[in-house]
Order: sequence, then C-alpha cells, then structure tokens
Amino acid sequence: MTGPTMTYLNKIGGAQAVDRIIEEFFKRMEALPEARSVRDLHQEDLAKTKGVMKRYFSEWLNRPAGISTPHGQTGLASRHATMPIGASERDAWMQCMREALRAVVTDEKVRSELEDRLYQLADQLRNDEEKYQ
Ligand code: HEM
Repeated sequence: MTGPTMTYLNKIGGAQAVDRIIEEFFKRMEALPEARSVRDLHQEDLAKTKGVMKRYFSEWLNRPAGISTPHGQTGLASRHATMPIGASERDAWMQCMREALRAVVTDEKVRSELEDRLYQLADQLRNDEEKYQ
C-alpha cells in the first residue's frame, strides 16, 4: 500500500508491532539502571498501563500523515502533569523507547522519523522549571 492512506501503523506492521514495541519498552524500563527513577513512578503492576499505552500508540500511529498534533495530547500532558518530568526522565524514557523501536521497526527511515516525533512528544511532557526559563 502507498499514498496518503499509508499511516505509520501500516508501515511498522500494525497493532501486533505496537504490542511488541510496548512490551520491549517496559522490559527495558525494568532492566536499565538509568530508567529506575522512571520505573518507580509507575505502578508495581504494569498490565493496565501497558494496555493503555498500546491503545494510545495504535491511535497515535494511525493518524493520516501530515497531521502532527497527536489526538488527545492535552490529555496526555495532564496525565503526566503530576509526575516530575525533567530532561533526565525524558531521556531515560526515550532510551527505553529507542531500544524498543530498534528491536521491532526494521525500516531505518521510518524508525528515525518515529524517534523524532516521540522525542518531541516526550519533551512537551517536561514540566520542570528549566522549561520555563
Ligand atoms: C512520548 C512520551 C510519552 C508518551 C506517549 C506517554 C504515554 C503514556 C500513556 C498513554 C500513559 C497511560 C495513561 C493512563 O494510564 O491513563 C502513561 C502513563 C505514565 N507515564 Fe507516560 N508517556 C510519555 C512520556 C513519559 C515520561 C517522559 C515519563 C517519565 C516520568 C512518563 C511516565 C509515566 C507514568 C509514571 C505513567 C503512569 C503509569 C501508571 O500509572 O502505571 N511518561 N504515559
């Protein structure tokens, strides 16, 4: 499939690929010492969070190309507003996500585009003082 109907979700292999990305992501978050502080902000049992993340990512990746404002982004920001998110939390989160994408998304161009978009999104969730200086 080509053309404007081709979304990132199609490009990476559909909902199954999203499920794998989120599983790989949380595997990293459990294992990487750098991600410890981010892991500890989450609930002990990650099952519910994984489910919500999978649904959110599938919707986010299935928007037609060119629409850059993620649907429900305001909701995402308010969901994260109570958590201390600074540059180091953003970077730890991104490290887990980059490794997860590398494990699942084989097309390098698609992967680097997704990394860029997710970095922008993660940076928007930052709520430390540095952001407002
Ligand atoms: C692109 C960036 C991010 C996206 C798309 C994202 C997405 C999500 C989603 C969809 C949820 C589930 C919301 C719910 O349960 O209602 C969530 C929860 C959460 N996120 Fe993020 N997030 C991002 C970045 C971050 C960062 C940088 C941190 C670092 C602190 C973080 C920490 C958390 C925590 C602690 C929860 C709550 C999970 C729980 O209650 O178990 N997120 N995130």
